[in-house]
Amino acid sequence: MSTAWLNGTFLPLDEAQVSVLDRGFLFGDGVYEVIPVYGGHLFRLPHHLKRLRNSLDGVRIRNPMHDEEWQAVLEELVALNEGSDQAVYLQVTRGVAPRRDHAFPTGIRPTVFCMSNPVTVNRDSAAEQGVRAITLDDIRWSLCNIKAITLLPNAMLRQQAIEADTAEAILNKNGRVIEGAASNLFIVRDGLLITPPNSNALLPGITRDLVLELAANNGIPFREADIPAEDLFSCNEIWLTSSTREISPVVQLDSTTIGNGTPGPLWHKMIVLYREYTDAVRRGEAD
Ligand code: PDD
Repeated sequence: MSTAWLNGTFLPLDEAQVSVLDRGFLFGDGVYEVIPVYGGHLFRLPHHLKRLRNSLDGVRIRNPMHDEEWQAVLEELVALNEGSDQAVYLQVTRGVAPRRDHAFPTGIRPTVFCMSNPVTVNRDSAAEQGVRAITLDDIRWSLCNIKAITLLPNAMLRQQAIEADTAEAILNKNGRVIEGAASNLFIVRDGLLITPPNSNALLPGITRDLVLELAANNGIPFREADIPAEDLFSCNEIWLTSSTREISPVVQLDSTTIGNGTPGPLWHKMIVLYREYTDAVRRGEAD
């Protein structure tokens, strides 16, 4: 049984319990982060903690801990759990209110929960061969920059993708493609890497930012620009990025083959750079 952390205490995950009056349970009133761990090292922790602060500010929940306290808790959590590669999940809800009421209660403490699971990073043949995806209408709310635990639309979209025997749903909002149900979106067109600019329509992905950083540092031309839905079907490459899938090449979209149906040359270049980076994190030489 893995070890979790709940409101200040480390305990076995299956013993961690919260009240049914927790606003996370009743309203989905909370935010979360997923942080990869490579070789026991938390990946891009300052970036994740910054996004957490932005999410908390966005929903007006007080940050329950300073960054140094978060770091200490998460490092201990990682050390207490098995596996040198893990995925840390942390969640902060508005807390337990005395009764169910939509309005924010006063004088309650946020509920803070963290757990970590071992991961086998998606470096198998499926990642090398690419994945299939479908396009669906973006049915989410208008503050997708907040990493809210209220994920029913994302779960419904992902389930539709799975039932279509694909790995992800790419979301179309008013004729533009935005991101995946749980990933950011990149396309390659004539050697140019393109991803939609950050806005409240999408989550500012930590993996996305690293991919842009690696592109900038390695002379790969890139642009942050809106992507018309029709461009998705005629581009050379499509990638989906996230903490858990790293950089996943899409080789079939709906019934259209992307490129020649295998991961493209720029993906091959980027995945080498990305793995060099995560190997440096593993050695403690990068964050
Ligand atoms: N999801 N967009 C959405 C809607 C996401 O849910 C995620 C990640 C991303 C990628 O962000 P990052 O690179 O920081 O992981 C983009 C996580 C993994 C999840 O919900 O489990």
